[in-house]
Amino acid sequence: MERRTLIKGAAAAGLSLLSGTGFAAAPKKKILVAYFSRARSISRGMDAITYATPWVGNTAEAARVIAQTLNADVHEIVTTEKYPLLHRENSRIAEQEMKSDARPGIAPSNLSLNSYSVVFLGFPIWWYREPMVIRTFLSRYQWKGKTIIPFCTSLEVDIPQARSDIMKLAPGAAVLEGRRFATENANLASEVKSWVQGLHI
Ligand SMILES: Cc1cc2nc3c(=O)[nH]c(=O)nc-3n(C[C@H](O)[C@H](O)[C@H](O)COP(=O)(O)O)c2cc1C
Repeated sequence: MERRTLIKGAAAAGLSLLSGTGFAAAPKKKILVAYFSRARSISRGMDAITYATPWVGNTAEAARVIAQTLNADVHEIVTTEKYPLLHRENSRIAEQEMKSDARPGIAPSNLSLNSYSVVFLGFPIWWYREPMVIRTFLSRYQWKGKTIIPFCTSLEVDIPQARSDIMKLAPGAAVLEGRRFATENANLASEVKSWVQGLHI
């Protein structure tokens, strides 16, 4: 009889110990997908067809899939700088920005990173690395203790150069290897989804 009481007591004590020491489900990490994609930053004066057709940028599409897969919040980085639609002209401006280490402006937003522990950071490759507006964005926030997961879309250039730039501009953050996806890729959504699922966040 005494022994049974002891076991019962121990079980009860164990249960209360478990419930009181965080063995209950850990709070889920809050995730943000922040991205820049050219579509919303092109200047006026383009042709009527382009205006009539909603244009979703490649990086915007990758961001949408990441957010949907992880039920994450999304933030679009929109420049106050307007870039020309013509690739050659955009390319020339982007080159100047890169060579002068410019910090193009960002449209005002109420974004706070306080509640996010993981930030996916997406951009198109411009001149072999991240567009300078990504540097503007990084310089606006404190990154200590956060995990940044870079992703990009490009014609052919991979992500390591951009990743190492991001590491310099986000001191104290863990910057994961990240992933590059090919431009105009019919399998973009499925490739992005399987990458994100494989991260086991
Ligand atoms: C100004 C500019 C510079 C670019 N530079 C590169 C480059 O150096 N290497 C590359 O592979 N792709 C380059 N691209 C192609 C873009 O990275 C690619 O088309 C990307 O998917 C566009 O993404 P978005 O639609 O989200 O803006 C460049 C595009 C632009 C507009």
